[in-house]
Formats: sequence, C-alpha cells, structure tokens
Amino acid sequence: MPYELKNLVADCRQALQNGATKTALGEVCAAMRKILQNPDFVEQHFGPAREIGRSTLYHDPALDFHIYAHIPDGAILSPPHDHASAWAAYGQAIDHTQMTGWAIPGGETLPKPLITYRMAPGSAGYYDVGELHSIDMPASSRFLRITATDIDVLPCRYFHEVDTRKSIAKYLGG
Ligand SMILES: [Fe+2]
Repeated sequence: MPYELKNLVADCRQALQNGATKTALGEVCAAMRKILQNPDFVEQHFGPAREIGRSTLYHDPALDFHIYAHIPDGAILSPPHDHASAWAAYGQAIDHTQMTGWAIPGGETLPKPLITYRMAPGSAGYYDVGELHSIDMPASSRFLRITATDIDVLPCRYFHEVDTRKSIAKYLGG
C-alpha cells in the first residue's frame, strides 16, 4: 500500500495532537519523507502538469496545520526570516533547496548563518517558532511544506538587509 495524502494527514494529526513539540515536529518530517517516496504523489502534486503556485492539499480544522504543495514561479532566494509564532516544515519533492539556518549573535542586530545544507528529493526538516532560515532554490525546485497555521497573515521577520549568498560565503565558505 503506498503512503498517501490521507496517511500523511493522519500521521500529522497523531503527531501534533498534544502540541508541536520537537518530537512531534520530527514525526511530521518523518511522515513527509515517507510521502515523498511515493512517485504518484510527487507526480500528482509537483509534476509538469501542475500549474505554478501554491496549492493547499489539506487544512486541519482542529489543529490548524496546513499542507501545501509549492511550485515556485522561478528561482527563489530568500533573506533570513522566521514565521513569527508558527513552525514550518519543508520537504523537498523535486530538484533541491540550499537551506541555511541563522541566528543573531548577542549584542548584534543582524543574523549570521550557522549551518547550510542541500536538501535533496525525499528530505525534510523543520524550523521551530522563531528559528531563522533562508532558502535558495532553482526554478525547477518543488517542495512540500507543512505550517502551524496560515503563515501569510503573521508578522514574519524578514532581514532584507542581509545578502543571503554573500553572508553564507563569508561565514560558512560556501
Ligand atoms: Fe520559511
């Protein structure tokens, strides 16, 4: 039996029912990795027949998490940002994302990169409430995302004054 959207929903509900602890978010990511192994799911929601944009695959009425399929309109290079009071989990469906975690050193105002890694198809990871991250992906990248709530309406912090690639090259050498 392939692992399908209904299985992902059930596993996310099970994981998150007692709160979005780090263990719960780890279980959400494990479920994302499972569904990204299902080629029919990837084809259906991220394949060439899909239109550009974000589609909502599911919204949980009780726990309020959202499952989205993202087909970006071109390459994306984001500044470091958080999602305010929400966590966000990213799963790579097609191609790759260069993901970077950031933090603001004590006494400073701008974030510096801590770690950068390449997400390959089938991989997933999360950023907890307030954790800064940036994404750098080619136009062919497609990703699954699960968020605590509708993050579009939240006052997310974006550090537009940071040059993402330059800062990563300076501090992490790549
Ligand atoms: Fe984000």
